[in-house]
This record gives sequence, structure tokens and C-alpha cells, in this order.
Amino acid sequence: MKRILIAVLAFIWIVGLNAVFASDEKMQHQSHQHDMSMMDTRTSLGVSGGMKQHQLSNMRAHLEAIQSIISLISEDKFKDASKIAHTELGLTPEMQKMCSMFNNEKYMTMGMAFHKSGDDLGDVLNTKDAKASLRALNKTMQYCVECHATYRQ
Ligand code: HEC
Repeated sequence: MKRILIAVLAFIWIVGLNAVFASDEKMQHQSHQHDMSMMDTRTSLGVSGGMKQHQLSNMRAHLEAIQSIISLISEDKFKDASKIAHTELGLTPEMQKMCSMFNNEKYMTMGMAFHKSGDDLGDVLNTKDAKASLRALNKTMQYCVECHATYRQ
């Protein structure tokens, strides 16, 4: 009887210990995630509501444009690539309006420079020079990287 009792107690102790370790690990994991989000030192644009979705879908369109341009360069379809650069990445009135909606002058300046580089990319693509086109694409994409490192919604 005593042996059974000891065995049962030992079992409960082991199970209990496991639970404690598991929850400890979970907490460590959570606090790690917490630290990661605390480390987001980018400037918030204070984007709210429907504007958030609008901005993000605009961004996804930018990404798609880059993919199309790369694909078209690889197929020697420079004219088509140039058109996409001008219409999707260039400084269209719509993009100009979008960039100035955030009440942040530096963001707007960066956005405008980015869209201007999109137009430059369109011009270079028109020359059908693949290497020069890649250099221009690289320049445009430097703005994607720089802005994402600096700002968040
Ligand atoms: C002037 C600033 C700026 C430039 C330039 C810019 N973006 Fe963004 N982008 C943002 C901001 C702000 C967000 C939101 C990021 C956040 O809140 O974490 C974003 C988010 C995104 C997202 C996430 C979309 C989603 O659905 O979550 C993608 C993809 C993206 N950008 C692609 C691009 C690409 C590709 C380029 C360049 C061709 C680009 N962006 C240039 C500011 C910029």
C-alpha cells in the first residue's frame, strides 16, 4: 500500500515538474517576442483605419510591378517593362496624393524621390540596355529598403 502511494506521489511530482518547465519555456518565448516588438524603433506614420489597407495593397502592387519588370527584362520586353515602371512606380498624380497623406514631410520627400526613380527606371528601360536597367532597378529598390527600415504604419 505504502509503495503504491509513493509511486503515485512520484508520478504526480514528475507530471507537475513537467508542467512547470513547459509554462516557463512558454513565458520565455512570449517575453522574447515582446522584446522583438519593443525593438521596432521605426517611426510610426500613425496610419489608421481604411488607410492601412489602402497603403498595404498599394505596396503589394509595387512588389508585383518589380516582379513583372524583372520578368520582362529577362524576356527582352523592355518597352512593356518601361510602361509598368512609369505607370506603377512613377510619380503619377495618384502616387503624389498618396505620399502626401501622411502628414510627415520626410516620408513624403522619400516617397517622391522613390517615385521619381521609378520614372528614371522607365526611361532607362526604354534604351533596352539590360545592365543599365538593372542598375536603375537597384536604385529604385534601395528606396523600398530604406523606407521600410525607417517607417512603419
Ligand atoms: C516612402 C516609403 C516607402 C517606400 C519607398 C516603399 N514602401 Fe513599402 N511600405 C511602406 C510602409 C510604411 C509599409 C508598412 C510597413 C509596416 O507598417 O510595417 C510598407 C509595406 C510594404 C509591404 C507589405 C504589404 C502587406 O500587405 O503587408 C510590401 C510588400 C511593400 N511595402 C513593398 C514595397 C516595394 C516592393 C517597394 C519598392 C518598389 C516599396 N514597398 C517602397 C513604405 C514604403
